[in-house]
Amino acid sequence: MIPPRKSVPPHIVIAVDGPAAAGKGTLSRRLAQHYRLRHLDTGLTYRATAHALGERGLPLDDEDVAARIAGDLDLSDLDRSVLSAHEIGEAASKVAVMPKVRKALVEAQRGFAAMPPGAVLDGRDIGTVVCPDALVKFYVTASPQTRARRRHDEIVGNGGHADLAAILADIERRDARDTGRTDSPLRPASDAHLLDTTEMGIEAAFEAARNLVDTALEH
Ligand code: C5P
Repeated sequence: MIPPRKSVPPHIVIAVDGPAAAGKGTLSRRLAQHYRLRHLDTGLTYRATAHALGERGLPLDDEDVAARIAGDLDLSDLDRSVLSAHEIGEAASKVAVMPKVRKALVEAQRGFAAMPPGAVLDGRDIGTVVCPDALVKFYVTASPQTRARRRHDEIVGNGGHADLAAILADIERRDARDTGRTDSPLRPASDAHLLDTTEMGIEAAFEAARNLVDTALEH
């Protein structure tokens, strides 16, 4: 008699995109935990590239140099506590406009997504470029004022000093750079579910996202 085949869990990829401080990181971590998937914050890969350039005294505006650094990144060695600094986010959005940097990082991100049992990736171009075949795609957004307030409260909550007006200006400048670049601009995939966390809050966004993933898994 042929033994019954063990059921193999499906390879799931969930794409979460959106602008800075919209809540996509928290949502992605919750989804990864819930579905027992690996999680990659792809923003850290752009941040690590910019940070490594700075650490080595290399310029931020030489595409070939930046692409070489991006190609050498070790995804298992991304230190959020160092990379989350506000200025590194600004520098990251400058190297993120370079097609050769994006090519190197997207390749590494796709490799991560392909490893079993699947993954939740969050960033700006996951549903549109990195994983266009993701099972479910989300576009998480919130008003710039709400996002600036969250970032401000997070910094103050961690004992730092923050200027709300400066953070808002920064967020707006970063949004403009991310949506305006030619290569992989920030925009929702045509089949992404929109989650606006301005009024909804992150917990309600997680519940909505979970329902949508469960429905997709049933089909
Ligand atoms: O998400 P986070 O703020 O850490 O991202 C830092 C910068 O990296 C973003 O402003 C964006 O320019 C860039 N980025 C990107 N594509 C991604 C993730 C981040 O261009 N998938």
